[in-house]
Amino acid sequence: MSTQYDEQLNTIKTKCLGCEKCSLCKSRTNVVFSAGVPNHKLMLIGEAPGYYEDQKGEPFVGKAGQLLDRILGCVGFSRQRDIYICNTIKCRPPENRDPLPEEKAACYEYLKAQVDIIQPRIILLCGRVAVHSFIDTNLGITKLRGKWFEGPNFSKMMPIFHPSYLLRNDSKEKGSPKWLMWQDIKEVRRVYDQLD
Ligand code: URA
Ligand code: URA
Repeated sequence: MSTQYDEQLNTIKTKCLGCEKCSLCKSRTNVVFSAGVPNHKLMLIGEAPGYYEDQKGEPFVGKAGQLLDRILGCVGFSRQRDIYICNTIKCRPPENRDPLPEEKAACYEYLKAQVDIIQPRIILLCGRVAVHSFIDTNLGITKLRGKWFEGPNFSKMMPIFHPSYLLRNDSKEKGSPKWLMWQDIKEVRRVYDQLD
C-alpha cells in the first residue's frame, strides 16, 4: 500500500539500514526498521529486536509477535491494515539484554523521525523499555499500564504489557496480566473508534 508517508519513511529507513552509530551494527544480521502500515491513528513501539526479528529484519515476528498479533486481532486490528510497529532500537542486543543508554540515544533519531512523520494519534508503549523512553517516571509498568499520557504531537500514549511478559504469565483470571491486557486493548479500540 502506498501512502503519503512512504517517501519520507523510505529516506529514514535507507539511512537506518546503513547505520553505524553504535556497536550493535557489528553483531546485527539485519536492521529491524518497522512492520505494519503507516496509519496516522495507531503506532506501537516495542523494545528491541530479538533473534527472529534480527534474522528476518522485521519487528515482532517471534512468539511474542504472534501473541501481539492475536491481541490486536481480538479487537479487529491487523498489521496489514491498521498499525505501524517499530522498536526503541533497531538492532538486536546480544543475548537480548536491555538496550544500553548509548544505544537508545544513538537510535532515537530514527524513532523520533518515525513518530514525527506519521504523527500517530495513539501510541502504544509496549513494555518497560518503551515506556521509560517516553515517560519520565520511576513507576513500573504495572502502575502505568492502561492509563493515557500526553505524547508527542498531541498524541495519546498508553503503556501496555509486553507480550513476552504475558507469555510468562499464562493465567487469564480476572486481574491477571492477560486479563488486564484485554481491558487495555478494548480501551484502545474504543478511543481509536472515536478518532476522525
Ligand atoms: N520484542 C520487542 O520488543 N520487539 C520485537 O520486535 C520483538 C520482540
Ligand atoms: N516487565 C516488563 O519489562 N514488561 C512488562 O510488560 C511487564 C513487566
